[in-house]
Amino acid sequence: MKTQSDEKLNNSKHTFKVAERLSYVPTYSFAKLDAEKQLILSTGLDVIDLSLGSPNLLSPKIVVDECIKEIQNPANYRYPPFKGNKNFKEAACAWLKNRFSIDINSENEILPLTGSKEGITHLAFAYINPGDMTIVPSPYYPVHARGTLLAGGKVHELPLTPENNFLPQLDTIPQEVLDKAKMLFISYPNNPTGAVCDFEFLEKAVYLCKKNNIILVNDLAYSELVFDENKVHSIFEVKGAKDIAVEFHTLSKTYSMAGWRMAFVIGNKDIVSALYEVKTNTDYGVCGIIQSASVKAFSIPLSEHKKTSMIYQERRDVMLEKLSKLGWNIPKPGGAMYIWLPIPKAYKSGFDFSSDLLHKANVATIPGGSFGTHGEGYVRFALVDHKERLSEAVDRMEKAGLTNK
Ligand SMILES: Cc1ncc(COP(=O)(O)O)c(C=O)c1O
Repeated sequence: MKTQSDEKLNNSKHTFKVAERLSYVPTYSFAKLDAEKQLILSTGLDVIDLSLGSPNLLSPKIVVDECIKEIQNPANYRYPPFKGNKNFKEAACAWLKNRFSIDINSENEILPLTGSKEGITHLAFAYINPGDMTIVPSPYYPVHARGTLLAGGKVHELPLTPENNFLPQLDTIPQEVLDKAKMLFISYPNNPTGAVCDFEFLEKAVYLCKKNNIILVNDLAYSELVFDENKVHSIFEVKGAKDIAVEFHTLSKTYSMAGWRMAFVIGNKDIVSALYEVKTNTDYGVCGIIQSASVKAFSIPLSEHKKTSMIYQERRDVMLEKLSKLGWNIPKPGGAMYIWLPIPKAYKSGFDFSSDLLHKANVATIPGGSFGTHGEGYVRFALVDHKERLSEAVDRMEKAGLTNK
């Protein structure tokens, strides 16, 4: 039987104060524009969505077929092994050997992840205490900074500018920052700038981190999306890198499998093990069906990656050519899947330009400020639609008077 006080409880209002750590990570300015994009879509208008770096190509058929097969395997209905499936880890290590000629021990130098995003954030929880510092080139893939911020740490941003080819000037980092820093992030081909780095840059980063006892985190999300004659190296091609480095790989971009959530980290076994330690407290690892299906992806010849890169390269060229007619003459990005566009002089912020692109041209982009302090003054276009649609996006900009003239 209900008492009078139960009735009162049924109608009571509650508010719960969220943890302070959520205030360390401000809401993406993009979130506001995303809500506005949804509103426009709900009216039936056609938005060309170049906001998220979510590939529009199909995942490989052999992966999809294997997934359908594996979903009928009862072994996959139980929890997968915490440390990942042997078949996945061995196939990934064989792929790395084939692609970069590096030796990764499949027993203790690799860990499957539910996406690099998850792994990168959890890595910060393994190493960052409140007040600790991480060095992050800026503009950055937001998670490089946000993992540290959520863990209560501080981020030292290294400016990436066109003058330095969007490469951080490692020799200008103040010694007091190096003394405090626990991690340094690098990521080339780069999101959002599209820049690439050479092998010498990787050597410098390894040297700096060894000298200052800093964990080097190389995010190689776009290792297979590289244009023209550019080459991408693994950090583990640098001698001694395993003493201090880990490297994140994902199937999201290479195999257009962003929705499958499949990635892995490789490298220093103590760092991999610390990340594993955090993850044993938060998840049970990647779904076995996805791991087994992903093994098939590694059997795809490397020459296929060149074909995928060519698709993005063509998209890049179509867009840059048309943008040049609107007054933008920018250097060609060497890899990844983005156009990093300076905003016209008449605009005060990337947000304002992005907002006009959405409302006046129905083209969705991300304002540069979402990628860190040094991203302000730019907007990012993701090349995630067919070249005809990218071409139409620039036509719409012209029609709406959104030019750089
Ligand atoms: C540099 C970089 N790292 C990681 C990711 C996310 O990878 P995943 O889909 O494996 O979480 C992205 C996504 O855009 C990215 O740009």
